[in-house]
Amino acid sequence: KKDTIILAFESSCDETSVALVRNGAQVLAQSTATQIQSHQRFGGVVPEVASRHHIEQIIGCLDDVFQQTGLGYTDLAAVAVTYGPGLVGALLVGVSAVKAVAFAHNLPLVPVNHMAGHIYAARYTAPIEFPAMALLVSGGHTELVYMPQENDYQIIGETRDDACGEAFDKIGRVLGINYPAGKEIDELAHQGKDTFNFPRAMEKEDNYDFSFSGLKSAFINTVHHADQIGTKLSHADLAASFEQSVVDVLAEKTVRALHNFPVKQLILAGGVAANSGLRTRLEKECAQIQGVDLLEAPLKYCGDNAAMIGAAGYVGFKHGNRAGMTLNAEPGLEF
Ligand code: KG4
Ligand code: ZN
Repeated sequence: KKDTIILAFESSCDETSVALVRNGAQVLAQSTATQIQSHQRFGGVVPEVASRHHIEQIIGCLDDVFQQTGLGYTDLAAVAVTYGPGLVGALLVGVSAVKAVAFAHNLPLVPVNHMAGHIYAARYTAPIEFPAMALLVSGGHTELVYMPQENDYQIIGETRDDACGEAFDKIGRVLGINYPAGKEIDELAHQGKDTFNFPRAMEKEDNYDFSFSGLKSAFINTVHHADQIGTKLSHADLAASFEQSVVDVLAEKTVRALHNFPVKQLILAGGVAANSGLRTRLEKECAQIQGVDLLEAPLKYCGDNAAMIGAAGYVGFKHGNRAGMTLNAEPGLEF
């Protein structure tokens, strides 16, 4: 049988990425231009700046993946793109580029939900088996997603306020750590202990929802109070305490969901899935639940990238998901 090669685009936030993916399971080439440095001095992503960077970078990334592989447009089965959720101006760059390619080369266009992309990053570790549960933790989302079968996504719980990655980035600012702060806080946490015992919001509530704004406030108040009375707190202990609180609430709700749904796999995905404390904890928890295997997205595909869009695009392609020239960016897209 002939291989299905998909050309995928991702431009929902601050990474411009293009990839060539074979059968939804193998990355033939990926080219990613990061713009993090341009946003760092503002402490977060500036939408207008992001759009401009995408426009400048996307054609270079496209040329690059063809150059790396020696493939051409006639080798493609389809093109795929993130059309939401994300920043509208950023998404529009990828959507416009993919429409041009689809139109010029008469290729089927597969629209991909960015969050489904994050889930399918785990496909590069091993095949996904259904029913599956995904813990999706990124800069914009924190969700438990139940997948009874392929191409079927049901959100069973989500954050009521801040996303988990957003909380990492906000408390990072208080510690003087550059955006995005998650990775550095993770490293700092290894050198400290949970001495502050910050709140674990909604941990015992009978639902699958999360809340991180109370933790964020508790953290900020603790640091400000110490500043006022002139004491110096250990940044490592602060980071360790924050991370432990986040990991505890994520693990508690996830484990409960694994007991209440008939799943074969837990998929850990999204930028925060790179967190080593979270990975270690879920590895331990899943080892104790019979019949549930943990599937972690490879570290290099946890953050935003086009390879994951190619993997999810392959599934959408098989299921007949198609868009035409009227495809628009949907910044608030849900499953
Ligand atoms: O999925 P992603 O790359 O972009 C969105 O779709 O939002 O996630 C980015 C988020 C940022 O908030 C970043 O601080 C966080 O992922 N992050 C981490 C780690 N690496 C990245 N958070 C905790 N621990 C990490 N090791
Ligand atoms: Zn993302």
